[in-house]
Amino acid sequence: MTAVRAFTASAPGKIILFGEHAVVYGFPAIAVPLTAVQVTVSAEAAPSGSGIILHAADLGRTLSLTDLQPDDPLYDALAYPLQLALQTLRRPSADLYLTIRSTIPIASGLGSGAALAAALIRAVCGALDQPIADDALNPLVYEVEKRHHGTPSGIDNTTIVYARPVYFVRGQPPQTFMVARPFTLLVADSGQSSPTRVTVADVRRQYDSEPDRIGALLARIGGIAEAARQAIETGNISALGPLMDENHALLSALTVSSDLLDRLCQAARAAGAQGAKLSGGGRGGNLIALVPEDRAEAVAEALRRAGAVRVLITRVGPQP
Ligand code: PMV
Repeated sequence: MTAVRAFTASAPGKIILFGEHAVVYGFPAIAVPLTAVQVTVSAEAAPSGSGIILHAADLGRTLSLTDLQPDDPLYDALAYPLQLALQTLRRPSADLYLTIRSTIPIASGLGSGAALAAALIRAVCGALDQPIADDALNPLVYEVEKRHHGTPSGIDNTTIVYARPVYFVRGQPPQTFMVARPFTLLVADSGQSSPTRVTVADVRRQYDSEPDRIGALLARIGGIAEAARQAIETGNISALGPLMDENHALLSALTVSSDLLDRLCQAARAAGAQGAKLSGGGRGGNLIALVPEDRAEAVAEALRRAGAVRVLITRVGPQP
């Protein structure tokens, strides 16, 4: 039996900057880690024979892995990643006490499920003295994502596992890219929740009935993601705002915006944002706005007044 050592692992949230929905059809998308929010899992030895005990510190709940049956709502989020970790390590069980803490809002498109899975698997492997490499972790977190979302493109798990800006084309190895000049984004939660699998299925229905028209919208979104990558890599931040506005209009045309998201975009722009768009599956979830640093607070306040329930300020910067 391997000795257990105390091990703490974490994973950030993520935000899609450009290319959601089109990425499902093979067009590029880009996403960045949202390091302002994190999941952290601390693993330590538990008494022999106790199995894996989970303490969700934020919820004040403690439960045993063996209590979680497949019909439990927490099964996919907690038990499934732990099973994948044990399978990878070829162990039937382990005696571990895991403390989970998260500042990532759940079910709002910030990647809470993928980050939880990544931190859990990292913590278990690390505690059992077989730290897992990102290249091995990424497919495991993708398996968990499939349980949550059906047929995800893989952009969420990739951005979260590598914790770097990612340029993603489905079926190709992810590329990270450099941020030449830092920029400030607001991430505003609309407070509306809408399952990504529903909006993805709606876009699919539209595509199946009007492939030429919808295909052209998706291709243009892919072109925007490509142009945005170039702008970020060359530090041409002023090009990003108009690209965000155009990407939002295209997502609206795909019917995945909402009245509230449109109002939040307008409010952000009126208060001085250089551009704004919904981020993720749409019809709810989050909006992102590009802001000059000295306008961040004012735009955040305007977003709250227009109905955002929470606004995070994040700086997307050159990698260390
Ligand atoms: O709901 P989110 O933020 O995880 O984003 C989903 C992004 C989509 O492109 C709509 C779907 C996908 O799997 O890429």
